[in-house]
Amino acid sequence: MPARVPAEPLPDALRDEGERLGREELRALQLTRLQSTLRHAYEDVELYRKKFDAAGVRPEDCRSLEDLARFPFTTKADLRDTYPYGMFGVPMEKVRRIHASSGSTGLPTVVGYTDSDLSVWADVVARSIRAAGGRPGHKVHVAYGYGLFTGGLGAHYGAERAGCTVIPASGGMTARQVQLIRDFEPEIIMITPSYMLALLDEFERQGLDPRTCSLKAGIFGAEPWTEEMRREIEDRLDLHAVDIYGLSEVMGPGVAQECVETKDGLHVWEDHFYPETVDPLGEETTDGEGELVLTTLTKEALPVIRYRTRDLTRLLPGTARPAFRRIRKITGRSDDMLIVRGVNVFPSQIEELVLRVPAVAPHFQLHLTRSGRLDRMTVVVEARPDALPEQRAEAEGLIAAGVKDGVGVSVEVRVVDPDTLERSVGKIRRVKDERGV
Ligand code: DLL
Repeated sequence: MPARVPAEPLPDALRDEGERLGREELRALQLTRLQSTLRHAYEDVELYRKKFDAAGVRPEDCRSLEDLARFPFTTKADLRDTYPYGMFGVPMEKVRRIHASSGSTGLPTVVGYTDSDLSVWADVVARSIRAAGGRPGHKVHVAYGYGLFTGGLGAHYGAERAGCTVIPASGGMTARQVQLIRDFEPEIIMITPSYMLALLDEFERQGLDPRTCSLKAGIFGAEPWTEEMRREIEDRLDLHAVDIYGLSEVMGPGVAQECVETKDGLHVWEDHFYPETVDPLGEETTDGEGELVLTTLTKEALPVIRYRTRDLTRLLPGTARPAFRRIRKITGRSDDMLIVRGVNVFPSQIEELVLRVPAVAPHFQLHLTRSGRLDRMTVVVEARPDALPEQRAEAEGLIAAGVKDGVGVSVEVRVVDPDTLERSVGKIRRVKDERGV
């Protein structure tokens, strides 16, 4: 059995209608869909009507895609303020499903889907699975959580739509996940990268070599992960690791997907989601670098106009799917950015450095404390099981120097015993902030 799916372009016969469009055809379709979404939002959602009126714009003012920049942004606060159903644009009897994201504070964000929305969602996830090398007849192990989180059910219906056989494992019960993979022999796994690491450790704990398992491709997302993490997972599992992006406010997984043949960032499925990038003041950026802003083009239950995702990336031209623009791998969210003694630090920068040091495992946490008026950051990282004491000490020095040079801040590094840090079964929490308010 070949270990990985072939990293080759998607055969024409497997492309769906949207993937066959040329760039200009796609832009024409986007404009028609955008105009109709703006009308729907204005006519059927009070909040949008008020916001458009306050900004002095009407749906008819959108005559080209560039005109979208005249319309106001939508934020998470808008969804919270209208909790639970205030932004729905269809009567409740047309809403077939609800999802919600818990968020760290306050009320959850509630989203809804009509029959058509669910069908589009399954289509874009199916497209994502094919871009990752998944094919009809493959078995897909879904270890994203099922429930109000969009990961599990989103992946599930997409895999069915792609003609695959779904193994709906959900998150948790790690030892059993390993057994399911051994016994059911899936070719594809859909899981957060941090939970994949926990499964890898479990394989090894059971004395199994993960490289010999049936998996040929992994579709990882729901949290930031670095190129170094890709290398770690690909080496330990002998599969292709590709990135899937999405957010519940806009749809769920399947807004953008990396293609296995290029692994060069994620193509945004632009026939359904229109991307822009803005600077912190909300101005369109000229080089494409900035916060991703998304507008839905076909959503019925919850049309979303210029949603400020807080996710930081860069918009790039298409490669493997030339008609669709790409986003560079997401570095992090603007709200995950830590400010330590005035220096901006993203957990992904630390991940990059930690994974370059062979004596430590990819399990780490950032502890923030305050002594007096000074913030202190400690990188707590686990040693690899075979690391010698002197290698552990050396690793502490290497990581501290790497952070000082690469990020510009002095940190303390503590290498702890294997299995000391809590494992995630879904999205990982890298930061323990004990600075108080
Ligand atoms: O995490 C949807 C999802 C499920 C995506 C499974 C991919 C796979 P939310 O819980 O609403 O939805 O969280 C969305 O997660 O704004 C990003 O900050 C982050 N995120 C999602 N995918 C990626 C990724 C799902 N590939 C928030 N890289 C988003 C980096 C990601 N961050």
